[in-house]
Amino acid sequence: MQNIVLAGATGGIGRAIAKRLLKAPDTAVWGLCRAPEDEQDWIDEYQGRLRLGRWDGSCPGQFKERIASLLPADAQVDGLIFASGLLHGEGVKPEKRLEDVDASNLEHAFTINAMAFPLLVQALLPWLRHKEPKRLMAISAKVGSLTDNRMGGWYAYRASKAALNMFVRNLAIELPRRTRGMCCVAVHPGTTRTPLSAPYEQSLAQLVVHDADETADNMVTVFEKLTDADNGRFINWDGTDLPW
Ligand SMILES: NC(=O)c1ccc[n+]([C@@H]2O[C@H](COP(=O)([O-])OP(=O)(O)OC[C@H]3O[C@@H](n4cnc5c(N)ncnc54)[C@H](OP(=O)(O)O)[C@@H]3O)[C@@H](O)[C@H]2O)c1
Repeated sequence: MQNIVLAGATGGIGRAIAKRLLKAPDTAVWGLCRAPEDEQDWIDEYQGRLRLGRWDGSCPGQFKERIASLLPADAQVDGLIFASGLLHGEGVKPEKRLEDVDASNLEHAFTINAMAFPLLVQALLPWLRHKEPKRLMAISAKVGSLTDNRMGGWYAYRASKAALNMFVRNLAIELPRRTRGMCCVAVHPGTTRTPLSAPYEQSLAQLVVHDADETADNMVTVFEKLTDADNGRFINWDGTDLPW
């Protein structure tokens, strides 16, 4: 059985990724979300291959405890997909101009979109020390690319995704020195119809937009092909490279 930890397992993209992964009978998904108690029917459907644990990305001090209560001490984790993230929220909209930039919104975006990833990897270290290949995939966003930024705006989202990308690069350097078979990448999922993109439907009309199942297919295809040789890449949904 291969064990995949999926953060954001009940989001638009995360849930579709879980379903896609669970099509393989030899895969178990250990999902993290904020309200696992609402998901009992879904959990029952997979008869033990889907477990959901409670976590909140805004409480990084609790990650170790949360992971320890989800994963058996003798389990081996073969992969992590980090699919949680936010662009807007209660009273929070992506900034159009400098005057919209707000310290607490910046802090929240950095905590959820960026900081949560390395701290989750840190919490998972005891389950990643085995000799088999280990794939760590952070769902980032193309708008986090410094090179690709020609429009500006979206300060908190862009900067937090750029920070996430830097965390991926750091982990891609450090982790293979500590344990064999490590591959850590950032991936852009492509514009996808989910609650995150819903407020921008009008602008989406000019873009190629995938539904969540298509994106999940793309993400799992990229994930399953990852080897040591991909370590440290920023990968587009179609498997091509993106500029940092
Ligand atoms: N949709 C797109 O077009 C698009 C494009 C580029 C990149 N992305 C990236 O893809 C990822 C998934 O986005 P999505 O489209 O699936 O969005 P979504 O449907 O809004 O899902 C957001 C996910 O983030 C989680 N989340 C938000 N705040 C959290 C917190 N405080 N603690 C823990 N989890 C939290 C949610 O968890 P709960 O389920 O527990 O609420 C949910 O799983 C994000 O990183 C996003 O930046 C999406």
